[in-house]
Amino acid sequence: MAETRDPPVPHSESSDGVPEGERPRILTIDGPAGCGKSTVVRLLARRLDALAFSSGLIYRAVTWLALHQGIDPASASEVRAAARASRIELVERDDAIRVLIDGEDPGDALDSTRVTEAIHWIADDAVLRAALLPLQRRLPAGRLVLAEGRDLGTVVFPGAPVKVFLTASIEERARRRHAELRDRLGEEHPLQTVLAQLRRRDENDESREVAPLRPAPDARVIDTGDRTPEEVVEAILEKVPREWLPQRR
Ligand code: DC
Repeated sequence: MAETRDPPVPHSESSDGVPEGERPRILTIDGPAGCGKSTVVRLLARRLDALAFSSGLIYRAVTWLALHQGIDPASASEVRAAARASRIELVERDDAIRVLIDGEDPGDALDSTRVTEAIHWIADDAVLRAALLPLQRRLPAGRLVLAEGRDLGTVVFPGAPVKVFLTASIEERARRRHAELRDRLGEEHPLQTVLAQLRRRDENDESREVAPLRPAPDARVIDTGDRTPEEVVEAILEKVPREWLPQRR
């Protein structure tokens, strides 16, 4: 993590003296694993001509790095040292942000169950989380960014002008995750195993001492369980300022 400079957090109030047109355009989408964030972000990015940023990729990348180097993810000092010694970058690719580690994109390996099982060691480390904040805030200027994760509206971009928090029952989320593991990653697991893993992840995300999963006070909470992804997108678009919508030619 070469750079530690911490740029100002975007602010949405008009009293801060920043002209409206120069204000970073950030829409945060937080919520538990499997609540449909990625699907909604993909659809919304198309509608808004926006850049999609999944902050979970950063935690996945650091976890992947530790496993790849044979480091015990539970050893905070070794994981921090490995992260410090590596170049972790965010790059724009096909309207989405990817994470490169020493110039390499680990690709689908980031989403593997092996990484997901170990990630809580990394996500629960307050020192690492603090070190990874500047990286997340240094997103490309001038683009509308859809930033998704667990703490984007509460910690990373507390001044974001539009915030959404997605929810769904754990059974529905397990069903979706089970299908995704099978269809996208070719991993076949019993539904009950996926459900148990989700329950553990929820507990981790909600009980974390630093940046626990919870809606920002000014977030719109949307249950995705009884809505199609398109309906969720429409509900979010209601909150988007008109000037963020792409101009029709
Ligand atoms: O969204 P995801 O499943 O790719 O996230 C992977 C893990 O990273 C998640 O279980 C918790 C952690 N995470 C986090 O702690 N804070 C975020 N803003 C995003 C993800």
